[in-house]
Amino acid sequence: MSIQNCHNFRDFRRLAKRRLPAPLFHYIDGAADDEWTAQHNVQAFEQVCLIPNALADLSSLTISTKLLGRELSMPLFCSPTGMTRMFHPEGEYAVARAAEKAGTLYSLSTLSSVSIENIGKLTNTPKMFQIYIHKDRGLTQEFIERCKLAHFDALCLTVDTLVAGNRERDRRTGLMMPPHLTLKSLLSFALHPQWAWHYLRGEKFELANVVDRIKTGSDQSDLISVMDYVNSQFDRSVVWQDAEHIIQQWGKPFAIKGIMSVEDAKRAVSIGASAIMISNHGGRQLDGCVAPFDMLPRIADAVGGQVEIIIDGGVRRGSHVLKALALGANACSIGRAYLFPLAAGGQAGVERALTLLRHEIERDMILMGCASLSDLTPDKLLRL
Ligand code: GLV
Repeated sequence: MSIQNCHNFRDFRRLAKRRLPAPLFHYIDGAADDEWTAQHNVQAFEQVCLIPNALADLSSLTISTKLLGRELSMPLFCSPTGMTRMFHPEGEYAVARAAEKAGTLYSLSTLSSVSIENIGKLTNTPKMFQIYIHKDRGLTQEFIERCKLAHFDALCLTVDTLVAGNRERDRRTGLMMPPHLTLKSLLSFALHPQWAWHYLRGEKFELANVVDRIKTGSDQSDLISVMDYVNSQFDRSVVWQDAEHIIQQWGKPFAIKGIMSVEDAKRAVSIGASAIMISNHGGRQLDGCVAPFDMLPRIADAVGGQVEIIIDGGVRRGSHVLKALALGANACSIGRAYLFPLAAGGQAGVERALTLLRHEIERDMILMGCASLSDLTPDKLLRL
C-alpha cells in the first residue's frame, strides 16, 4: 500500500500503523482514559446533517479566507503537534512545507523537534507558534522575542495542559522521549527497521525550542516520558492576567487554544485575544469533556463576530469543515489528520491529505449550492 492508495483519514491511519513502531502509532492514535472524548469529537459531526440547495450560480466558487491577519487558501490548517520528527524524519519541516504548498497556516508547538528559527527560515507560509507556559517564566518572554525575529504571524497559548492527560496506551507501551529501545518496545522497533534507520541517521532528536534551558537531549540519562515532562515543567499558576500580558507584549494576532466554555470565550474576548480555538486537545486531556463541535453554537452565539473561532478535534472530512462553518466557526484545524499522512509518506503524505481535504471542501460547497463560505449558515443544517 502506498499513499496513492490513501483516499481518506482511515486509509492514512492504516498505512501509518504499518510504518510506525507501535508506541509511536499509539501516541498519535491514543487519548485520555477511556478515549470517550476522542471518539465523541468525531461522532459529534455525525449528529448534524447538511441541507443542500440547488441551481445556485456556482461559477465563481471561492473557499479562501482571512484568519489571524493572513489570507488562507482554505478554512483549514495544521494544529501544533509535539515532537513531530518522531513520526517521520522530515517531521515539522515536512508539515510546514506541505502547509505552504497548500497555501494555509502552519503551527509550531513549544514541544517541537525543530526550532522556531528553522521554521522561520523555511517557509513564507502563515505561521503560528504555540506556547505552553513553563515554570521557567523567562522562557515565555524568550519565545515571544524569538517569534518576532523569526517573523511568525501569530501566537497561540494552550490552556488545557496544566497536567498531563492520562494516556494509558503510552503507559502500556512505555513511550519515552526521545524514542528509545526498551524491553517492551524492542520487538516493535525491530519490526520497523526502515523507521529505526531513518531515525538513527537523522538530526539529533531534541525539544528544539527548550533544549538550551531544559535538559532533554538524547543521552540515556535524559530520557523522560511526555507525562513527566508536562507534570514537572508546566506552570499551574497561570491565570488570565498572564495571557493578557503576553497579548500586550506580542502585539500581533493571538489565539487561545483549549477554550471550551462560553464564559472562557467571553473572557478571551475581554483580554483582547484575536481568536479562540475551541479544542479539548483531541480528547487527550480531560476524558468526558464535551466535543468542540457541540459547544460551537453556544460559543458562536456569545462571541461570534468579536473574535475568530477555530475548532479543532474530530475534523476528518471536508463536510465536517462545512458543518463547523455553518455553525459559526471561521476555520477548523487538524492534528492526527496530518500526522498519520506524515508517518505514512512524509511531506508527500501531508500534501496529499491537505489536497484531498481541499477537494472535499470545494466539492461539498458545490453540492451544497454555496458559492462562498458566508453562504454556510445554520439554516443549512438539521440536527438529528
Ligand atoms: C501533546 O500536546 C500531546 O497531546 O501529546
